[in-house]
Amino acid sequence: MSLYEMQPLGYTYDALEPHIDRKTIEIHYDQLYRRDFERLLWVVSKRPDFFEGKTMEQVLKDPVAIPHDIQKTVLDFGGSFVNHGYYFQGMSPNGGGNPLGRLARDINDQFGSFNGMKRSIKVVAQSIYESGWVWLVVNQDKKLDIIKTLTQANPVSLGLDPLIGIDLWEHAYWLSYPNKLEDYLAAFWEIVNLDFVEQKYEEIMK
Ligand SMILES: [Fe+2]
Repeated sequence: MSLYEMQPLGYTYDALEPHIDRKTIEIHYDQLYRRDFERLLWVVSKRPDFFEGKTMEQVLKDPVAIPHDIQKTVLDFGGSFVNHGYYFQGMSPNGGGNPLGRLARDINDQFGSFNGMKRSIKVVAQSIYESGWVWLVVNQDKKLDIIKTLTQANPVSLGLDPLIGIDLWEHAYWLSYPNKLEDYLAAFWEIVNLDFVEQKYEEIMK
């Protein structure tokens, strides 16, 4: 068995329609995520001793410890592996709605409302010129924060715990929402897996 496994999709390719179309999910999961995962395995095979016993999150948390000759490749493909794992788990055909409990209270405290948080995420997402991601994270002060990362960088490399990761590469939305990032973000909130997010939040805030 490999050290690393792809995150199972957990729903069918068409399960997120009409918010994200079947072809987009199929290409994104089964071609792009899988391609990057296979490239990651190739890099891991070069230095299996370094990766033994480490989750990829643990590897990304300490980027300077990654052997120099594979560092960039690990950050790219390991980042893609972790980011896409979050992304596909972070959506659900039964998703949407509003957060509950402690997460809801803290979002209201820090952003005024869930809609206020969504507006802040949109502003940050629209500020990205390159391919990248927008994230809701928990920072080192245990406060919620919104950040962007470029290409496949992951918040854990910055000492942050990701809660929601939205893929802003054009491959994530272009077929359904050509040149319409705002519509894609609106669609994402209809399928965001808040059960997963709330569970992550409880684990982080323990
Ligand atoms: Fe992607």
